[in-house]
Amino acid sequence: MIFAANLKCNHTRDSFNEYAKILNENLKDENVLVFAPATTFLNEEFKFTLGAQNFYPCESGSYTGEIGKAMLDEFNIKTVLIGHSERREILGESEEFLRAKFDFAVKNGWRVVYCIGESLELFESGKTREWLDLQLANIDLGYKNLVIAYEPIWAIGTDKSASAEQVGEILEFIASKTSAPLLYGGSVNAKNIAEICKVKHCGGVLVGTASWDASNFLNLIASC
Ligand code: PGA
Repeated sequence: MIFAANLKCNHTRDSFNEYAKILNENLKDENVLVFAPATTFLNEEFKFTLGAQNFYPCESGSYTGEIGKAMLDEFNIKTVLIGHSERREILGESEEFLRAKFDFAVKNGWRVVYCIGESLELFESGKTREWLDLQLANIDLGYKNLVIAYEPIWAIGTDKSASAEQVGEILEFIASKTSAPLLYGGSVNAKNIAEICKVKHCGGVLVGTASWDASNFLNLIASC
């Protein structure tokens, strides 16, 4: 099981230092990824894998406000999140740009957690599979270092997780196309994690809100 935390735009370097300390003291050999904001990166050894929430597909260069590979290398970061709906929707990252990020990550052999998921409108009109098919067509599903996170947009940060049954149906669909490990994300919390982890093809979870506090996140891992 992969337990991935998406800290989003939370934590300062000091608070992340505390966060990392609590995880380090309590994790054993669980497979934990923490996608931290670049401004909180620490140059230390952790019992979890530190990942980048974002990067620009370049070594370095004239890309104001962005973070390039040389900067990630400084912290030995080789795990990246691509395609999160907040970057697609709020930052306007297109399929074409996501493909460029994906290709760059593949070229560097990075582990990619690639997010896909449908809007409420698509979900309600029964077009989830069609939509996911389009999103999946953008990347090489055979990439050996790929993890796919299914995150329905309507379940992110809403406290309305997809049901275990819904997760099961969609993961079954994605598993028919790729052997990459599959995660579910979208309002995963202490109440629903045990059920979600039992879903067939579920290889773990990508947790936002419930991961921002280290003890909460550890409780979540323990209840799985
Ligand atoms: P959430 O976020 O757990 O707060 O719904 C999940 C995510 O955005 O990855």
